[in-house]
Amino acid sequence: MSEHTWWKEAVVYQIYPRSFNDTDGDGLGDIPGITEKIGYLDDLGVDAVWLSPVYESPQYDNGYDVADYRSIHSEFGTMDDFDRMLERLHDRDIRLVMDMIPNHTSSEHEWFQRSRSEPEGEYGDYYVWREGDPDQPPNNWESAFGGSAWTYDEERGAWYLHLFDVHQPDLNWRTPEVREEIYDTMNWWLGKGIDGFRLDVVNLLSKAEGLPDGDPDGEWVGSEFFVDGPRIHEHLGEMHDEVFAGTAAVTVGEMPQLDIETARKYVGDGPLDLVFPFEHMDFDFGEAGRWDIGSWELTDLKSILDRWQRGLEGYAWNTIFFENHDQPRSVSRFGDDGEYHYESATALATVVLTLRGTPFVYQGQEIGMTNSTFESLESVRDVDTVRNVRELIEDGLIENYEAIRPVVEYRSRDNARTPMQWDDTPHAGFTDGEPWIPVNDDYPEINVARQEGSASVLSYYRDLIALRRGTDALVRGAYDLFHPDDEQLYVYTRTLEGREVVVAINFSDGDRRARLDPLHAEASLLLSNYDDVADAPDGAVELRPYEARVYEQSQ
Ligand code: GLC
Repeated sequence: MSEHTWWKEAVVYQIYPRSFNDTDGDGLGDIPGITEKIGYLDDLGVDAVWLSPVYESPQYDNGYDVADYRSIHSEFGTMDDFDRMLERLHDRDIRLVMDMIPNHTSSEHEWFQRSRSEPEGEYGDYYVWREGDPDQPPNNWESAFGGSAWTYDEERGAWYLHLFDVHQPDLNWRTPEVREEIYDTMNWWLGKGIDGFRLDVVNLLSKAEGLPDGDPDGEWVGSEFFVDGPRIHEHLGEMHDEVFAGTAAVTVGEMPQLDIETARKYVGDGPLDLVFPFEHMDFDFGEAGRWDIGSWELTDLKSILDRWQRGLEGYAWNTIFFENHDQPRSVSRFGDDGEYHYESATALATVVLTLRGTPFVYQGQEIGMTNSTFESLESVRDVDTVRNVRELIEDGLIENYEAIRPVVEYRSRDNARTPMQWDDTPHAGFTDGEPWIPVNDDYPEINVARQEGSASVLSYYRDLIALRRGTDALVRGAYDLFHPDDEQLYVYTRTLEGREVVVAINFSDGDRRARLDPLHAEASLLLSNYDDVADAPDGAVELRPYEARVYEQSQ
């Protein structure tokens, strides 16, 4: 892998098509809606789009349940719409990274239909089937969405494995034809000219021989037997050789439960270019796990990010993200979405765009979209939240929805999925129809049109992305953390060939006066989220709530 690959310099913008922009009034975003906004993406300055799935799908998991990998879901448009979008993106030098879901398909996929009806046929071994007592699942593995990971299929008279929803049967990666089908599909899309893939839960492909019971007290029961399973490197190596070798396409592996040691084997000299780890997305779990809110300190966040920054340096390249379609809004989670909305959203932006690695910005993050309200379980759309909450109620762990509502409003994936807020017209300009999920109530204040002027979260993102593009040290520079134990300050440097960029952020809602270790007296300010920067005459800086500054100095 060469030192200078396009994705190391790129800023990537994730689009969740259902919620981005609707052009035909059906309440669901679509591909022409994306094409219509390419100018917006270009103005923002992003280099690539990661597009969540647009394949044909019954949409139980919003497209992560694929019924046909080579056709476009009709509510999103046609293949012609797709081709046009790709061409327009490329006209503006914006690359397109597609989502690929190799671990499971939809239960409506023809492969599954034939696998259940013709056990001895060509597709009989495409999925993970086990015969046995219809009342006793083959093992104790759990679905990420709650309940057993097994469902008994009456038609075939056997159990099938689904690590996610019951409508998402896991493919059997031991079957060579399954692997070939997936590689062929990926090559087919690359043949259309797309620029890479984000690979959904790709470290779950290989399941341990014999499918043993997992530790019943584990956070995800059974995961020790399907996360980073025995043949995962063989599979990903083969995928690399069959699909990616010799191409400029990027591969980003989404990897639950990934630690640094394991990550090093996947990237660098390994089969993938990038991985999405989740340590910094999981550290605010409470004692009861994900459906519980834990407390956290800035030092926790800094130390996780610092370990990953240092842990991959010299081996591989990081991804930097605070949001995606599975996570709540970062300004509500790590910032202050009330009084310091602008300041904290821009402080978070500063981290995402100045740490070492490829930044991923999720739609709406660039205007500081916030978490939403979900008054009842009926108002929740996300299969993950609905199933997990139902299970907690059934198991008697909580009495009713009201008891868990604060957690849902803090953590549910639906927080990321409310429609993109374009302006202050009805439904935030997302649709002329009835949106599939209600728009966040704050859209009259938080929307793109309103932020077009200066001193907005959006204009700060634009400035920061432009700054990153023009500052090599922010892309390739070495990283160093200062004041690691400080509970308010986040301070680090990025250094390249004698040029040093100092990033200093007050990550709190109080004023803070401090001497910053790395900062020289003659440093010049490149960017700040406050416009009247003034310091004490004795050389100490005075940082106001969530004030972020980016300086440059010679080393
Ligand atoms: C990934 C996706 C998520 C999906 C799951 C199952 O984690 O990001 O949205 O529900 O995989 O495909």
